[in-house]
Amino acid sequence: MKTIGIIGAMPSELKDIRLTLGTAGIKNISGFDFYENMYHGNRIINVCCGIAKVNAALCTQVLIDNFNPDCIINTGVAGGMDSIVKVCDVVVSTEVMPHDLDLHFLNDYPPYCGIFKADDKLIKNAVNVCSDMGVNSFCGRIVSGEAFVSDNCLKAEIKEKFNPYAVDMESAAVGHACYLNKTPFVSVRCISDNADDDGAMSFDEFEKIAAKRVAEIVLKMTDNIKE
Ligand code: ADE
Repeated sequence: MKTIGIIGAMPSELKDIRLTLGTAGIKNISGFDFYENMYHGNRIINVCCGIAKVNAALCTQVLIDNFNPDCIINTGVAGGMDSIVKVCDVVVSTEVMPHDLDLHFLNDYPPYCGIFKADDKLIKNAVNVCSDMGVNSFCGRIVSGEAFVSDNCLKAEIKEKFNPYAVDMESAAVGHACYLNKTPFVSVRCISDNADDDGAMSFDEFEKIAAKRVAEIVLKMTDNIKE
């Protein structure tokens, strides 16, 4: 039996996972509701962390401290940052990092790592599930920041600096906390918008569809995580 943590930022990103898993044991710790279920032989802990990096980092640490997961999957939606990535495609993180952390010359300080690598097995697992489901997926860098990006100029700036496949507001923090705790992780994100001037409109239209799609992918991934 493996213990698998699933973290989403918004209730919509956990809705279908919770529907499939059914009645859960719920523990409230540090303000987060952790839902615990047995599913196909694994213990699944799913939690809604709230928006942005502070919530995501705190929640990841509380999850690790209290449930000792073997791995963590960050699920949810994201903005597409590369023209080959279309709305409703999936981006699987190879690595995650903040796009809004400007250290200038303060680079050489703990934790001596600013780019957090995702786990190879979890990456392959996500890609295989997407391909089995006929979902277009791309592996690449996901960047996170304290803003919903819906502006052509900001998008261009982020693209120029970091060349990511997707942007969100949590993956970097989940990856950072997992790095410090030596917990394997991956972020699996379905594209709800293109992070451009039309981003907010597209998000309104596609967020629920994208969240549902990625929830199904992530639950299928748990079936491939065995002893
Ligand atoms: N999550 C979904 N779309 C996003 C965007 N455009 N910027 C940040 N986070 C997002």
